[in-house]
Amino acid sequence: MTWNSGKVKMIDQTALPTRLRYVTYSKPEQVAEAIRTMVVRGAPAIGVAAAMGAALGVVNSKKPSLEELLTELDSAAAMLRSTRPTAVNLFWGIDRLRDKVRTAKSVRDAKELAVEEVKSMEEEDIAANRKLGAIGAELIDDGDTVLTQCNAGALATVGYGTALGVVRAAVEQGKLVKVLVPETRPALQGARLTAYELSKDGIECTLMSDTAVGLTMQRGRVDKVVVGADRITRDGYVFNKIGTYTEAVLAKRHGVPFYPAAPRSTFDLKRTHDQVVIEERGADEVVKVRGKRIAPRGVPVSNPAFDMTPPELVSSMVTERGLIFPPYEEGILKVIA
Ligand code: MRU
Repeated sequence: MTWNSGKVKMIDQTALPTRLRYVTYSKPEQVAEAIRTMVVRGAPAIGVAAAMGAALGVVNSKKPSLEELLTELDSAAAMLRSTRPTAVNLFWGIDRLRDKVRTAKSVRDAKELAVEEVKSMEEEDIAANRKLGAIGAELIDDGDTVLTQCNAGALATVGYGTALGVVRAAVEQGKLVKVLVPETRPALQGARLTAYELSKDGIECTLMSDTAVGLTMQRGRVDKVVVGADRITRDGYVFNKIGTYTEAVLAKRHGVPFYPAAPRSTFDLKRTHDQVVIEERGADEVVKVRGKRIAPRGVPVSNPAFDMTPPELVSSMVTERGLIFPPYEEGILKVIA
């Protein structure tokens, strides 16, 4: 995802892995729709995309006064905020852009500040991922097999990735690392995106159905679990793609360390776990596989997109500021605040 002369260019992740298609947007509502339909997805990626969406409204605004421009920005921000509820990065990105633009003294100043801010966010995201990747890589031993979930890679961020950033950094350190990739039903981010990214980079990976995770752990084939996060609350609960909690419970059962890897923008220091909305997505994702119906018409469907892993199942958290250890409530405040 890049900002270029008043436009945002990104990969259409819904077309992968069969087609590498780029889309270019010039209006906030186009970016909001892209977030809603998962053309762009992954917590850090939607945070920066939403900020860029809001910035598009600012730089392309025809409003003559700063006051009118700021009112227009507020409505673009509200629209972008309504796209997806769980990843806190979305709100972080929009608020950061809005706070910066609100310091402007003129319309011209506002447009310049919006561009500067999204460019910094783009650079900072990659730098944070590289940093946390290098820190997390110290937890990985040569020859390890790492289980992940969903896609927490370059596609889910501006670049490099969080959980896959840890894997990439370990490989860059010369370690041999194998990655087990659950397909991640219903939207199949594991099969479509993680398997694509890793194969493209020549990192050894094995795709499996989500239901094979238990047996694989029982057979002793997982050395570490490394996942991303959509929100980590101040009380140490990790919200991530549905299926992550299952992996965490299994990891505890089989004595396998469980590490979430996330940048500061994923931490929500204001909320505790009971205040977070878990996104419920449409039934079509479950009753169809890539557009083909697999269940009877009219069957009731439950489709929560994320789950919540309690702190007692977390071995340590990987961030660009270092590792966080239990007790998490204290550790998070010390490292992140
Ligand atoms: O629904 P998605 O594909 O946006 O969910 C993404 C995840 O759950 C990722 O694991 C998380 O955002 C971390 S990405 C670095």
